[in-house]
Amino acid sequence: MADNTILALCGKGGVGKTSVSALMVKLLARKNSKKILAIDADPAVGLATALGVQVKKTVDDIRKDLIEKIKAGQSKGNKDTGKLLDYELFDALEESDGFALLAIGRPEDEGCYCRVNSLLKDIIGDLAEKFDIVLIDGEAGIEQINRRVMKTVDHLIMVSDTSVKGISVANTIVHVADENKAVEFKSMGLVLNRVRDACEVEDIRKRTTLEIYGSILEDSDIRDFDFRGKSLTGIPDTSPAVSVVEKILTRMNVLT
Ligand SMILES: Nc1ncnc2c1ncn2[C@@H]1O[C@H](COP(=O)(O)OP(=O)(O)O)[C@@H](O)[C@H]1O
Ligand SMILES: [Mg+2]
Repeated sequence: MADNTILALCGKGGVGKTSVSALMVKLLARKNSKKILAIDADPAVGLATALGVQVKKTVDDIRKDLIEKIKAGQSKGNKDTGKLLDYELFDALEESDGFALLAIGRPEDEGCYCRVNSLLKDIIGDLAEKFDIVLIDGEAGIEQINRRVMKTVDHLIMVSDTSVKGISVANTIVHVADENKAVEFKSMGLVLNRVRDACEVEDIRKRTTLEIYGSILEDSDIRDFDFRGKSLTGIPDTSPAVSVVEKILTRMNVLT
């Protein structure tokens, strides 16, 4: 068994998965003694930008290269392909301040996306072992849970805003994960984002069986940084959003 910890953030599109992921990476990256890998697993792409990293090569690029090489007869057997993949992956990792980043990229069609997801599943399995903490900014919706891309994840963190739709997607993800018995998490919970007041949190508590890990208020720093296209790693530590995220990571034992 690997002794690393894998966190994944899931939920409806636009609820704040990427923002919360970026704040988590910001805090994790401070642990100089630990090797951190951030995976941008949403084809809508965003984590790289939120972390101020420029991606030169994605998992989808690797997949395309591999197909080209196999076609050209440069790669045949499985062993060969495995080695090539290792090298390509290493090449696609963007090293930044205290963390490495890998982006899934944007496959052109649906069919490609299934294959990229299956490649991503293998990658998470192999690459994760080389890191202490892996954080996956997941795709919107339930597909990656359905396809068991998240099967090695330890902590599944659902993110939702206060909308009925957001909570409903979070509840559906739990349902799909439960049905898919082979997927087992050490913990599963909900981070509420863009909350206005405590009443909203209490109301939502009645509408989900998920434990609420924490709630982040509508935050002018996040808004402002996004407006200016600035990396969220620059958000001051005094920001309330940062302290909520810090508490969540602390209880998952990844900040020690
Ligand atoms: N707590 C917050 N306060 C204000 N704006 C936020 C907050 N969280 C996220 N946003 C904004 O909401 C939008 C969607 O957030 P994002 O993290 O990209 O969502 P997702 O990754 O789930 O699609 C972004 O413009 C982001 O700046
Ligand atoms: Mg996102």
